[in-house]
Amino acid sequence: MSSFQAARDRVLDSHPSGGEVDFEESVLYHHDRGARRSFTYATGRALAESHTLLQPRGGVATVAGQIELLRHLAEEGGADVLPLTVDSYTRQRDFSSSDELWGEAERTGSLTLLNGFPCVSAGIENCRKITSACEKPVEARHGSPDARLLAEVAIAGGCTAFEGGAITYCVPYSRDTSIEESLGNWVYVDRLCGEYAKRGVIIEREAFGALTGLLVPPAIAIACSVLELILAAQQGVRSFAVGIGQCGELIQDVAAIRALRKLSSIYLARCLPRATLQLSTVFYQWMGPFPRDEATANAVIALAAVTAAAGRPTRMITKSAEEAHGVPSPESNAMGLRLTRAMMEAVSSRSFVDEGAVDEECYWIGREAECMLEHVLGGEDGRPLGERIVAAFASGRLDVPFAPNRYVQGRVWPERDHMRAIRYSDCGDLPFDRDIRDRNEALLSRRRSRAEGVEVRALAEVASVTADINFSTHEREPENAYPE
Ligand code: 5AD
Ligand code: GLU
Repeated sequence: MSSFQAARDRVLDSHPSGGEVDFEESVLYHHDRGARRSFTYATGRALAESHTLLQPRGGVATVAGQIELLRHLAEEGGADVLPLTVDSYTRQRDFSSSDELWGEAERTGSLTLLNGFPCVSAGIENCRKITSACEKPVEARHGSPDARLLAEVAIAGGCTAFEGGAITYCVPYSRDTSIEESLGNWVYVDRLCGEYAKRGVIIEREAFGALTGLLVPPAIAIACSVLELILAAQQGVRSFAVGIGQCGELIQDVAAIRALRKLSSIYLARCLPRATLQLSTVFYQWMGPFPRDEATANAVIALAAVTAAAGRPTRMITKSAEEAHGVPSPESNAMGLRLTRAMMEAVSSRSFVDEGAVDEECYWIGREAECMLEHVLGGEDGRPLGERIVAAFASGRLDVPFAPNRYVQGRVWPERDHMRAIRYSDCGDLPFDRDIRDRNEALLSRRRSRAEGVEVRALAEVASVTADINFSTHEREPENAYPE
């Protein structure tokens, strides 16, 4: 028996729902449903047509509630692809709590006993009821540093995409899981998808590049996403979405999406020249603290839509105007989708961004990401990629701001420049070349000296949002960072 099979047996034995997984039956189930109903197929069409798929988040505690929610998001919101957002107990593998609350939710019909759908407690048949209730493909979205059993059940349950990875689901979501342990957990998930792929069932994987969602400089998101792409491709994954979050400054965000696309394909071709993998990009609408005011929240969402119209990610994850107040109602969630779509359609197909400025920003984002990626991937020394990633986080050569994880150095500090783009007030131990540091300093000093004045802001509250974030940093922002 292979060591992967032995690991699978242990994982599947850990909960009764694991015992229901029959790989051969599951392969047949996916074939019966047909590849045209899969996430990878929808992504492939979007890539071919240069179209951006919209996906909301959404998860409630019961099967009937989840089906109703997904239908609402598809029919009223026009979602192209659907979520199965998983509850926190399942994410943390506290199955005794999720089992108990799932039972109670189904008995009472209460949708909010859990903050998402408990795939593992519900089991394969219930997951299939949900994933087959809509024509649109469904992805399991969560935040679990150890998602091995969840992946088994969700995929056997009809999900055709699975979010997360060794870095992006450990660094922002877990305090105590080491990167090393997380790498082991995610090799399993990727290998599982690789096994399905060998049997013609292509499960899309996605790197949650938004990371902590708190002023993450784009190059850091790109470096982490690219590394997860390579890790996945090594295990035979055939469809992968690299991700990045909205920073809030149009030019930087458009450049970041373009740099993400470019670097991922360059590094994939370099590291695994023979891999046949459908590579796509995903853009997360602003993941930081959201404005409480509805109009301002909608402006942030609309700005993301405008950004996507220029940056053309393959997929965008939407937010709602209720974000500041908690998990959105189905109505508000659908409205976020409709606003996003309407805004994207309202924008002219003629270029409306300063292409010169985008190219310049794209160049520098690429240079920064390359410094990190070359540090990890360059200079063949025989060590496996996982070991190199662990060492890079230990030395701070890979670093993520505001990460709760103990194995992340957290020496890098972000700061917005005079144009509101995210720069580094401290590069920590990131392996940046001199010219990168000089440019970063020059941009920040323009802001600090205030010599230039500041451009007029359309989004008044974005400044207070950044002030919120910076409140927790070593250097508190002035009350209004961007006076009129
Ligand atoms: N349904 C909808 N959105 C959810 N989020 C988390 N759980 C759910 C859920 N069950 C969203 C939050 C926030 C992001 C972290 O995920 O509203 O936008
Ligand atoms: N990774 C999650 C997603 O993108 C973030 C939201 C959450 O934690 O539920 O759906």
